[in-house]
Amino acid sequence: MCNHCDKKPYYITTPIYYPSGNMHIGHTYTTVAADTMTRFKRLTGHEAYFLTGTDEHGQKIEMKAAEAGVTPKEYVDKIVANTKELWKLMNIEYDDFIRTTDERHEKVVQKIFKQFYDQGDIYKASYEGQYCTPCESFWTASQLVEKDGVKVCPDCGRPTELVTEESYFFKMSKYQDWLIEYIESHPDFIQPASRANEMINNFLKPGLQDLCVSRTSFKWGVQVDFDPKHVVYVWIDALSNYITAMGYGSDDDSLMKKFWPANVHLVGKEIVRFHTIYWPIMLHALGLELPKQVFAHGWLLFGNDKMSKSKGNVQYAQPIVARYGCDALRYYLMREMPFGADGNYTNEAFLTRMNADLANDLGNLVSRTVAMIEKYFDGVIPAWTDAVDETVDNPLKEHCAALPRLVEEQMDKLQYSQALAEIWKVIGECNKYIDLTQPWVLGKDESKKDRLANVMLMLAECVRFVAVLIAPFMPNTPNRIFQQLGVADDSLKTWESLQEFGKLPQGIKVCKGEALFPRIDIKKELEALNPAPKEEKKEDKAEKKEQKKEQKQEKKEKKAEIPEGCIAFGDFEKIQLRVAKVCACERVEKSEKLLKFDLDLGTEHRTVLSGIAKFHTPEELVGKNLILLSNLAPRKIMGIESQGMLLSAVKVNEDGSESLKVLMADPSMPAGAEIG
Ligand code: ME8
Repeated sequence: MCNHCDKKPYYITTPIYYPSGNMHIGHTYTTVAADTMTRFKRLTGHEAYFLTGTDEHGQKIEMKAAEAGVTPKEYVDKIVANTKELWKLMNIEYDDFIRTTDERHEKVVQKIFKQFYDQGDIYKASYEGQYCTPCESFWTASQLVEKDGVKVCPDCGRPTELVTEESYFFKMSKYQDWLIEYIESHPDFIQPASRANEMINNFLKPGLQDLCVSRTSFKWGVQVDFDPKHVVYVWIDALSNYITAMGYGSDDDSLMKKFWPANVHLVGKEIVRFHTIYWPIMLHALGLELPKQVFAHGWLLFGNDKMSKSKGNVQYAQPIVARYGCDALRYYLMREMPFGADGNYTNEAFLTRMNADLANDLGNLVSRTVAMIEKYFDGVIPAWTDAVDETVDNPLKEHCAALPRLVEEQMDKLQYSQALAEIWKVIGECNKYIDLTQPWVLGKDESKKDRLANVMLMLAECVRFVAVLIAPFMPNTPNRIFQQLGVADDSLKTWESLQEFGKLPQGIKVCKGEALFPRIDIKKELEALNPAPKEEKKEDKAEKKEQKKEQKQEKKEKKAEIPEGCIAFGDFEKIQLRVAKVCACERVEKSEKLLKFDLDLGTEHRTVLSGIAKFHTPEELVGKNLILLSNLAPRKIMGIESQGMLLSAVKVNEDGSESLKVLMADPSMPAGAEIG
């Protein structure tokens, strides 16, 4: 029996993006993930609803528009139009695109704000604090971190400004214990689970501060209707989109009734805090259920730094799609890195994967299968025969029949990359099956025709399975495969048609077409995508000279007498200290002391553990340049290999306790720079 026919509603969202600049492949990544999941849920019989949109208010946009000499609305309209074009290009099929400037949204945000005020969750007071405009975040003085002697935003490292305003405040602290209890008793709510620990330990347990939820120093926002001097804080405005788009608080809340609570909010890891602390508290205060899950995916890095509009270090989807089509990019984004982990985007990795997975594995399988059916059976799919070779046929048949379940298991965990890996295992097995069965040998012997028929059918049916299963990831490719296989009947393209292996009917005519993904010349393509910068070799010579000088000095030192308690310069030189840029940092589960770092050393990444969790939060260290003893022999701590040691300064306090600060290198130094 098909257990997918109950048409369960499924609601998935992306963050609503700031239209402060055009969307790059970081935004494309989240949106493709949401689209892929929506398509997968539809394939497996759900009624899926997919919401995306733009977060258009706030000081940042107001400033950008002023710089461009246009009104904020004119500014965002243009970017929203570009964004919608991009989603079309990427074959994104959202059900709704909400803009926070939509009247339907603004009206309900006002209502929500008023309700919070009326029920005593919001109060008015005077506020003095630090505001980071790029992050649209408030900080207390003690939360700021120091950079070059200046106190800066702990999230992005940029200067904050002191603001003194009369503001409304949300009593976050009132809900703190409830939220801790909720998160602890709903282990699926925040995924990956390490993020839940981070929220509890770094934000909730230390105590929530009441949140400033209105501003008077600028105008570009949703006005507080009962106090028009104020506009609503952008995050209160933005988070509400997930319910205003569903008609919450309006005359027609049928979507809300059907689809709330959302199944999953997909977010980048930098905005987990807003989605798992402020948003749940807002919903709880409104008497609404919480979304079933907030999934924090990792970052696409560019040159080991987070790609971001404000830093300008971005890769856009358009030039890639123009050359290779959107399916290739969609495949790469969903395959390259596990959902939840960071990954570096490079054109080279993209092109390499295209050749290996798409041209070689998938493309070859389809073209070989179709070509052989043309050659040996005049292009007509033959009927199954008795000529079965159980030792080779059964394993492939069983594996392929199990594939839908294997893919669904991974998709249920949002493990897109693993789901694709499962499909590609079968593709690999098919290519091996061709080598094992050697159709070109069978084809020479008329008495082996029956066997050959089965071999062809096995392959063609596996290709059909693959075509159905890749559809959510690569929506254009399946039809190109079905055309080549001669499958016109839509009932052979469904999830239900995969309940049974062997449904491909005899007698249909294959039709060899163009290669699905032609092999590409990576070197040439790289040049086309990013012309090489001119090389600078002069410095190499200077460097060698310098090295010789140093060696001479070393010899001299060896001969000199060394006082007790000192070390020779040569010994000191054995120590390699390098600037290590923190790409990611998290607490080690079950350890109070340890932080785990992903460090960028320019040419390589290192995992390093450091016992400084009591003195630093992971957030304040991400993006910082630390100092790594990089040639310390690796050692395992709590089952994790630590590849180096971070240097810190320690101070013993009057009461005997210790204070510690990890040492930092100047932020202008590149990752990997040698210290000495
Ligand atoms: O934060 N790698 O908007 P935003 C992976 N308006 N994903 C990335 C990425 C990267 N390098 N860069 C961006 C906002 N993203 C708020 C959200 S929601 C109520 C309000 C994706 O334009 C990722 O999903 O800064 C990230 O969380 C989001 O874009 C941030 O988009």
